[in-house]
Amino acid sequence: MFWSNKTSIYSLVARPLIFKLPPEGAHKASEIALSLPGVWNVFRPFNGAHNSKLSTDLAGISLPTPVGLAAGFDKDFKVVGSVLNLGFGFVTGGTVTLSSRPGNPKPRVVRLPDQSALMNSLGFPGQGLEAAVRRLGKYRKQRDRILVSIAGTIEDEIVECLHRTQPLAAGIELNISSPNTTGLRIFHEPARLRGLIEGLVADRLVPLFVKLPPWPRDTDNRREMLKLAETAVDAGVDGLVVANTHPVESRLLQAGRGGLSGAPLFEHTELMIADVQALVQGQAAIIACGGVSTAEHVWQLLASGASAVQLYTSFIYEGPGLPSRINRRLVKLMDMEGIDTVADITGPPPDVK
Ligand SMILES: Cc1cc2nc3c(=O)[nH]c(=O)nc-3n(C[C@H](O)[C@H](O)[C@H](O)COP(=O)(O)O)c2cc1C
Repeated sequence: MFWSNKTSIYSLVARPLIFKLPPEGAHKASEIALSLPGVWNVFRPFNGAHNSKLSTDLAGISLPTPVGLAAGFDKDFKVVGSVLNLGFGFVTGGTVTLSSRPGNPKPRVVRLPDQSALMNSLGFPGQGLEAAVRRLGKYRKQRDRILVSIAGTIEDEIVECLHRTQPLAAGIELNISSPNTTGLRIFHEPARLRGLIEGLVADRLVPLFVKLPPWPRDTDNRREMLKLAETAVDAGVDGLVVANTHPVESRLLQAGRGGLSGAPLFEHTELMIADVQALVQGQAAIIACGGVSTAEHVWQLLASGASAVQLYTSFIYEGPGLPSRINRRLVKLMDMEGIDTVADITGPPPDVK
């Protein structure tokens, strides 16, 4: 299959062309390509997501594979169906805010190809809740595989986003962690976070996840972020997403700072999952996010306590064949170890070509 090797048609032909466009232009072009009716259905039989060994339970949500698309790629739910056809087990759409937003001034997405990374300071450009609800209505058949990321700077706005989107989703992901939106940090205050989550939990009809900010190695920050994790679990969330982009400063971004994503994050993600796993001890599901690009990464994060993973930046670099490649390789690794279900993955991945 043309997308079955890392050296794919995408990396040889499509990526050099797409990367000639500025990042946001390239994103628009891929949205147009992914919106072409019918085209991506062709991938469905070959996307590697049909092997029952990959079936995953995420806080009560049944998924065909633990590999999901992270929030921010499909902000306005334009390409959910196509992306699922590529082999993702679930799509996290949004982040949705109550009103439409222009986002921050450009340039606000920068590629760092040497590191297989991106920096962004988008600040939630999006069409807002009404548009999201309208589009989600078209994906009722895929509802069981859609998480909706919601955010706001006032509790009432977030509650409204929950009420309107949860009938159309398998789960809700509360984003308190984008480094690019002034105002989200109010929910880094544990009492405020607890109040918000308790209100959401009382009204929720589907599992609720909270996406945490990352904690680099300095201990104050680590303690502060783990306190947020503890608060969220105490307040009754069903799961934690660990974590959002890592704050960076850069003159390449008009805003002067933003979030780093992609390969440099992976080792931190693994350490953070170990931290959170030790803290929650099974009281909440964990979704690992940050720098994931291979089946071995998925294996390591599942072995460390995650129930599922999300990725974004590696999809930009590796193209539409990536979820299929990861699914297939994960099955191969499981076969090597004689493991029949992803829930049984432990220890390091086997070293196979
Ligand atoms: C361009 C871009 C936009 C993003 N937008 C959002 C967003 O709207 N909401 C959110 O929770 N995370 C957003 N993220 C963060 C990703 O969901 C993810 O947490 C992060 O990129 C780390 O994963 P990765 O290394 O696989 O990309 C965005 C990331 C990128 C690169």
